[in-house]
Amino acid sequence: MDIRPEDPTELPTRRRVRLLSRDDRLYHVILAQQFDRELIDHLCRIAEMTRIIADARAGARFLNTILSHKRAMLYFTQPSTRTFLSFAAACQVLGMAYNDVRDPTTSSEVKGETEDDTVRVLSQYFDCIIMRHPREGFAERMANRLNGMRRTIPLLNGGSGKDQHPTQAMLDVYTLYRCFAESLADRVRHDSERNLFEGKTIAFVGDLLRGRTVRSLTYLLARYPGVRLLFVAPKELQISEDIIEYLERNEIVHELKYDLPEVVGDCDAVYMTRLQDEHDKDGETKSIDLSRFSLTEELEPKLRRDLAILHPLPRRGELDTFYDEDPRAKYWDQMRNGMWMRAALIAYVFNVDSVILDHYHSYYNY
Ligand code: ASP
Ligand code: CP
Repeated sequence: MDIRPEDPTELPTRRRVRLLSRDDRLYHVILAQQFDRELIDHLCRIAEMTRIIADARAGARFLNTILSHKRAMLYFTQPSTRTFLSFAAACQVLGMAYNDVRDPTTSSEVKGETEDDTVRVLSQYFDCIIMRHPREGFAERMANRLNGMRRTIPLLNGGSGKDQHPTQAMLDVYTLYRCFAESLADRVRHDSERNLFEGKTIAFVGDLLRGRTVRSLTYLLARYPGVRLLFVAPKELQISEDIIEYLERNEIVHELKYDLPEVVGDCDAVYMTRLQDEHDKDGETKSIDLSRFSLTEELEPKLRRDLAILHPLPRRGELDTFYDEDPRAKYWDQMRNGMWMRAALIAYVFNVDSVILDHYHSYYNY
């Protein structure tokens, strides 16, 4: 791949974030560290408003006009079900046409065109690129490469290698936000100063070493002082040092744990994850015993009545289907919330989030 002499992923985070902004606003959506608390809360409110507006026929029609003059490219060269479909649905909610490339063997890459050139070709036909890619850093490098083009368009990261999945993390926060807020007014209040995560214990469980959703979500939750994070994993798959250092720097209470049954009764939310064995070199993690890191039927008596059970999905055996119809299972909601949050993010990137906000305030009395 053609890499610029200065690799943006090597720069200090502050500088990386600046390079991804435009006019002091988020432009490319690549890293969870780009979101401060004010922006997270704002986007949760916009997602909530979008969800409510879309519920009425006239509202859905209105939303449909907002970006009907724009086109999106979904460039997904790593498998996906939810992220692809929810971004596609989010585009449709906002009236935005979209096209996709999922199999690069049908593109001119087979004739030797680089991925780098392919992305720049896409920038000539579309108004934004939503990308899932197997290599860490590729989306960020391409966002910076697009900055140098005469026609610059935003790039949104739908999952980059083992590194980050920021839009998943945003939908996860939105899901928790909906679980922890007491009322609709609480969720859409314009001047909310409340920290809904204060005093909450949230456990991440499973393959924390390679789960990109956990990395991104940790960065977001670290914006909420008073939250307590538990990392529950076998020692071979425990969260990496850079994340622990980040939490320490930000004075976020966190503990490493090695047994789910021991801590599950203490949690307001558990965030289950599967073994990410596609990153194995030679099946080295297949023999790890995950029985102490699974939410089984036997654990049910220990769970709080108001526990929120999350999972980015897909799942394997770590989350028993026993919970599927339990009201505490929020993993179904996560998927639908992903559509609203992604619509909110796209609206923000195109600077039309205020159109949604104004519409909401003129039709609903909050
Ligand atoms: N779907 C999520 C991701 O792409 C989680 C997973 O695959 O385990 O990161
Ligand atoms: N949660 C998630 O990213 O799912 P997909 O991998 O199916 O997109």
